[in-house]
Amino acid sequence: MKLFIDTADVTEIREAAALGVLDGVTTNPSLAAKTGRPFREVLDEILSLVDGPVSAEVVATDYEPMLDEARELAAIHKNIVVKIPLIFNGIKATKTLSDEGIKTNVTLCFSPMQALLAAKAGASYISPFVGRLDDISHDGMQLIEQIVEIYNNYDFSTEVLVASVRNPIHMLQSALMGADVATVPFKVIMQLLNHPLTDSGLKQFLADWEKVPE
Ligand code: E4P
Repeated sequence: MKLFIDTADVTEIREAAALGVLDGVTTNPSLAAKTGRPFREVLDEILSLVDGPVSAEVVATDYEPMLDEARELAAIHKNIVVKIPLIFNGIKATKTLSDEGIKTNVTLCFSPMQALLAAKAGASYISPFVGRLDDISHDGMQLIEQIVEIYNNYDFSTEVLVASVRNPIHMLQSALMGADVATVPFKVIMQLLNHPLTDSGLKQFLADWEKVPE
C-alpha cells in the first residue's frame, strides 16, 4: 500500500520524506492557500523533496480551460499528477488527458458510480473523500469497500487513493480493504507511528540497561 502525504507544507513534507516510507504528495487549492506562498514556488520545492507522484489541482471548470491548465501542470515535471474535479467537464477532460498519456487524479468523489465513471474515463487515481462523508453521518469507508470491489470486478487499472483521511482507523481499514494508496495529513502519519506502549517499553529497557554491570 502506498502512503502519500496530504499537505502543501514543505516543512511537513521534508520531515515525512525523511522517514523513507513516503511515496507521494497530494495538494489541493485549500492546502495551497494555507501556505501563504505562490503555488508554483511551493510545487517546485515539493517536486525537489519527493520522487513520486505529486498531485496538483486545476481550478478551471470549463472543458478547454481545464485541459490547458492540466497540460501546463503536466509539463512542469514527469511526477505531476493532474487533479481534476469529478464534474461533467472533469470526466470529459480526464478521458482526453488519459488519451494523451497525462496522469490524472479525479477528486471530490463521494459515490461508487462517480468512481466507475472516472475509471471508465481512464483516471490514474480516484480520490474518494472518507472524512467528509463521515462528517455528514455517512460511512466513508463503505465507499472505499464498494469502489475496490467494483474496480476488481472489472480489472480497472485506476488506483483507489483514499482521501480526507482523519485518523489511523481510516488508514487501517483502507489497508484491510486493499486500497492502493492513502493520502494522510502529517499529524496522522505521526499517529500511525507512535504508540504509548512503545514509548514506555523503550523507557524501561533503557533504564534497565543502566543496571547491567559493565
Ligand atoms: C486530497 O487529495 C484531498 O483534497 C484531501 O484529502 C481533502 O481532505 P479534507 O476533507 O480533510 O479537506
